[in-house]
Amino acid sequence: MSNIRNFCIIAHIDHGKSTLADRLLEVTGTIERRKMRDQVLDSMELERERGITIKMTPVRMNYTLDAIRYTLNLIDTPGHIDFAYEVSRALKAVEGAIVLVDATQGVQAQTISVLQMAREVNRKIIPAVNKIDSPLARIPETKRQIAGLCDLPESEVLLVSGKTGEGVPELLFAVTERIPAPRAASEEVAGFQGLVFDFKYSNHTGVIIFVRVFGGTAKKGDKLRFAASEQLFTVIEAGIFSPQETPVDSLSAGEIGYIVTGIKEPGVASVGDTILPAKGGGVPLPGYDRPRPVVWASVFPESQDDFNSLKQAISRLRLSDSSFTYEEESGGLLGRGFRCGFLGMLHLEIVTERLRREWNLELVVTTPSIIYEVVTKRGKREIIYSAARFPEYGDIVEVYEPLVEARIITPSDYLPALMPMFYNHEATVELTESFGDNRNLIVLSMPIRELMRGFFDEVKSLSSGFASLSYKITGMRLTDVVKLELLVAEEVIPAFSRIVSRKRVELDAEAAVGKLHSILPRQLFATKIQGRALGRIISSRTVRAMAKDVTGYLYGGDRTRKMKLWQQQKEGKKRLKEQGTGRVRIPHDVFVKMVQS
Ligand code: GTP
Repeated sequence: MSNIRNFCIIAHIDHGKSTLADRLLEVTGTIERRKMRDQVLDSMELERERGITIKMTPVRMNYTLDAIRYTLNLIDTPGHIDFAYEVSRALKAVEGAIVLVDATQGVQAQTISVLQMAREVNRKIIPAVNKIDSPLARIPETKRQIAGLCDLPESEVLLVSGKTGEGVPELLFAVTERIPAPRAASEEVAGFQGLVFDFKYSNHTGVIIFVRVFGGTAKKGDKLRFAASEQLFTVIEAGIFSPQETPVDSLSAGEIGYIVTGIKEPGVASVGDTILPAKGGGVPLPGYDRPRPVVWASVFPESQDDFNSLKQAISRLRLSDSSFTYEEESGGLLGRGFRCGFLGMLHLEIVTERLRREWNLELVVTTPSIIYEVVTKRGKREIIYSAARFPEYGDIVEVYEPLVEARIITPSDYLPALMPMFYNHEATVELTESFGDNRNLIVLSMPIRELMRGFFDEVKSLSSGFASLSYKITGMRLTDVVKLELLVAEEVIPAFSRIVSRKRVELDAEAAVGKLHSILPRQLFATKIQGRALGRIISSRTVRAMAKDVTGYLYGGDRTRKMKLWQQQKEGKKRLKEQGTGRVRIPHDVFVKMVQS
């Protein structure tokens, strides 16, 4: 065990984690140079296409230094904020972390967040400045920044290039020197004790759990149990990631590997659970906080014939991504579908894209929304996941909404442009601090609702791309929001309902009514489109009736015949209008355009 080192690489998005991991695999001979491809650990098709890491990936490397053979277990983590919980999970399975900072970018918002996470669990930190080969690298400045943040002398900061491999041997040396070997489990732990830090599902072998072993050993045929779900199973295979799954005789304390459980039913395995001996006893390890969904959206099949395929696809996907939630719902004109909770916008995009690609489904995904807690006049406190189910204005006493702490790092030049924008997004500045050369940290408290109203794009454009952002949910706060409904021919269309700030309700109503007005095809009679909020109509437009030339087939001058036809048309339209409420057929593509705004 003294020759094992378990570590992960954590960093702001795109600071080069996966590329550095490639070099580590190469230098340690884990993957032959000729078999190497860029970002080899990003194996999902979507990861490779977008150049991002979505799932953490563990890998074992052998490394010999001064005739000592080390086993290095590396976990490459995703960088995007939506997947921050993956970083916290990876950190629980290791003893140390390389904190990587891109020398062309300097310390960014998420560098600080991930560093904080590593500190909270007391992990050994190795700071490293990456991309030193780049002509744009500002090495001394970046080195100062990260040393300052880590409270370490600058001499402890390593300089590397994931691209050229420069500094990689020194980094490996630092991993063996500075990261502690796993400690033996405490005496009270008898038998196997392993933390499930991830799992996946295979049609053939069922659930495969990824474990960090803290005590005992596991080998084929052993009888074990999940501490939380109390499910027993027999080890079908134990193995390591090299990086492909490779069976081994046994997995022992200090090691990271996988166990094939053969379990096929959903809901048994959960990330953060502890694996213990089947015959009882054993001490569960502290688990993880369950990731909380942040944004909600409904997913419908384009064609209702595909509902069962979608149902099957969602339950399958859930087996390899336990961080999204779903429940069946019926969305009126959109038919049957699922209300799903995601960790953020990128997560929503990834999950829906995977459903489309991996299961070949055509989907309609509604405008994402967040949760609200509403206290009604009947004294009930309800959690509302969808705008359509938001109580009527007159029934509400109080509404609470989720609040985030957002961290922004920006060069000083952009502060004058950013400050008023924060105000427009209902953000209050909790702290401003400058550090390094020309870097400012701003901590904001703001509603997620506003974060989702294009906040990130505005920060990027006002700072010419130089500012970075990270956030975490901090709690709920009292808010002043209302439900905005759209009516077509006096009928509410629930899929078009949304929750907006009371201050902006008129503007938002105008915009939504205007948009529907521009895309709704004309009907035989004039169709009213209205925006309703606060118990009244606050915006209204009318789509003119279709002008059909009913006299087109007549020629010559018999005016009276034409008059007769016009009169008949007028009466027909009047009749249509009288019975016309609710008779407007909203074409599917109009629905799609409106709910995907
Ligand atoms: P996420 O996992 O999505 O957060 O990204 P990442 O941190 O794994 O970054 P990745 O390795 O995908 O690299 C991001 C970009 O930086 C890619 O275009 C790489 O080619 C480039 N890059 C990575 N390392 C270096 C380096 O050492 N030097 C230079 N010049 N470019 C690099």
